[in-house]
Amino acid sequence: MKKLESREDIELLVNSFYKKVIIDETISSFFNDIANVNWDKHLPKMYSFWETILFGQMSYKGNPMGVHFPINEIQAMEQKHFDRWVELWKTTVEENFTGENADTAIYKAENIAKLMAFKMDIARRL
Ligand code: HEM
Repeated sequence: MKKLESREDIELLVNSFYKKVIIDETISSFFNDIANVNWDKHLPKMYSFWETILFGQMSYKGNPMGVHFPINEIQAMEQKHFDRWVELWKTTVEENFTGENADTAIYKAENIAKLMAFKMDIARRL
């Protein structure tokens, strides 16, 4: 299987991931109903986000935690949603890529998801 090593690889990974996300019973509503995502804008942001994490390109400028708080206020983002998000991400990475960057993509996503789940939970208690 292929190594995860270029912008094109990331584009394939992110596109394949969101194909699963938008039809997923557990988390699709956040994207389709709550945030009403503009995919032409969101996808390039996600390519840059992962390019920055994996290749240190620094092409992503944004606040990845911050955008989730308003969504969490409309519909609680709970542990079960994060578990499903991570499951879909892990499956998509493993279906397409192998090697160190593929492992890092899974490991980083798991860590960010953990932190995000914690922050969303705290925010709902304030
Ligand atoms: C239950 C889990 C999650 C849900 C439902 C969710 C949902 C969303 C939604 C609806 C957006 C806004 C899209 C838009 O309107 O432009 C977004 C943006 C984003 N998400 Fe998530 N997300 C989740 C977890 C994660 C995780 C674990 C990560 C990182 C590994 C992540 C990274 C991002 C980034 C980088 C953006 C773009 C931020 C920007 O605009 O600069 N998300 N997410």
